[in-house]
Amino acid sequence: MPETSLALFGGEPVAADPPRWPQRGPQEARMLREVLDDGQWSLHGGTRCTRFESRFAALQGIGRVLTVSNGTIALQLACEALGLGPGDEVIVPGLTRPGTAGAVLDANAVPVLVDVDPDTWCLDPAAVEAAMTERTRAVVAVHLYGTMPDLMALAALAARYGLALIEDCAHAPGARWEGYGAGSVGTLSCFGFGMSNTLTAGEGGCVATADPLLAGRLAGLRDGGRPPAGSPPGWRPLQGGNHRMTEWQAAILLAQCDRFAEQRRRRETVTRRWREAALASGFLRPALLLPQVERPPGHALALSYIPDSPLLGDIPVATVRAALAAELRVPVEPCYRPLDTSPAYLPHSKPRHHLSQEYWEAIDPRRARLPHCARLYDSSVILPHTAMLRPGAEEHLPQALDRLACHAGQLRDWAAGRPRAAV
Ligand SMILES: Cc1ncc(COP(=O)(O)O)c(C=O)c1O
Repeated sequence: MPETSLALFGGEPVAADPPRWPQRGPQEARMLREVLDDGQWSLHGGTRCTRFESRFAALQGIGRVLTVSNGTIALQLACEALGLGPGDEVIVPGLTRPGTAGAVLDANAVPVLVDVDPDTWCLDPAAVEAAMTERTRAVVAVHLYGTMPDLMALAALAARYGLALIEDCAHAPGARWEGYGAGSVGTLSCFGFGMSNTLTAGEGGCVATADPLLAGRLAGLRDGGRPPAGSPPGWRPLQGGNHRMTEWQAAILLAQCDRFAEQRRRRETVTRRWREAALASGFLRPALLLPQVERPPGHALALSYIPDSPLLGDIPVATVRAALAAELRVPVEPCYRPLDTSPAYLPHSKPRHHLSQEYWEAIDPRRARLPHCARLYDSSVILPHTAMLRPGAEEHLPQALDRLACHAGQLRDWAAGRPRAAV
């Protein structure tokens, strides 16, 4: 039994230092310097966005990648490239970043919020099928935290009903499903490169597809309607916006790509050990990795707290999160708030969403029934990937969990606002 007191109460944390994220060094500085010196700071004239696109396409095994300004815009452009709009319904999991559904709204389609599978935390194919109507045009499959949905079941459903499958892969660079890179199965797929993501330029994103016509539309949509090089058959001019990534971001991403393979392996090794430790603890259960997941997404380890476990008993999950955050020296938070109650998903806060009374009613998130999302939210403990890259990280979670079990009485007193017993 560890003797040390909990970091929450002033003991030495199991992790010696907070993580340094993003990892960076002379290579990033050199790449930025080159952009500065050659004066080509935009996609127009620059070469780094296109170099990154090729490199990322090879990493994920996807036909064509187009860089854009962020992951939310990637999703909106995916909807627009598919021609989605008023009258169309798009199935979206109730447990995801608000931007996933917000992008559908901003294309004037209706996000239909569907419950997740309580084991994988991702879209449940049976719930998707049950939510379909004659208006359904697309399904957004989100690869959430460290897991993947049943991708082939969703692809088969989409094919059977003639729907587009959009993969939201913001959490899944480097992930693989039975030989398929994340993002290579859907009609279109979207990635975000924000600060919390495993591949980051601070901001940024990309949208990918194997379909040359969709790629041509996306090229115009992100870049003022400009015709794509070698316009594919069927391409027609359409109104675009400015959603270009800058060469600065692409330079950073190229440098980060050189670090990525090693980081990905490290996250996989560490999460394997952490999953075992969580299971062995008796009070935490990791989200299920389906056997077809060959390389899991490395974004985070998603855990459910098991209330009334023999070891921790009635200690609230918020106390467990606080204790783990202090030990691991990273924020340990609940998962995304389900979209039916999320304070950040407010379709009715924008007058431009008031297309009609019917639309206004259809986009009301409170129409959704998301009991599994709610239960996962209430019990969730999310360990971010940044905690996995430090030397010795494998043993950080096992040690932290031992400490929690050892000091359960103190935690219970702290949670109840009682003075703590002496160690
Ligand atoms: C699941 C999910 N979808 C979409 C996004 C949107 O990406 P961005 O923040 O780049 O707009 C994110 C952000 O990382 C995300 O986590």
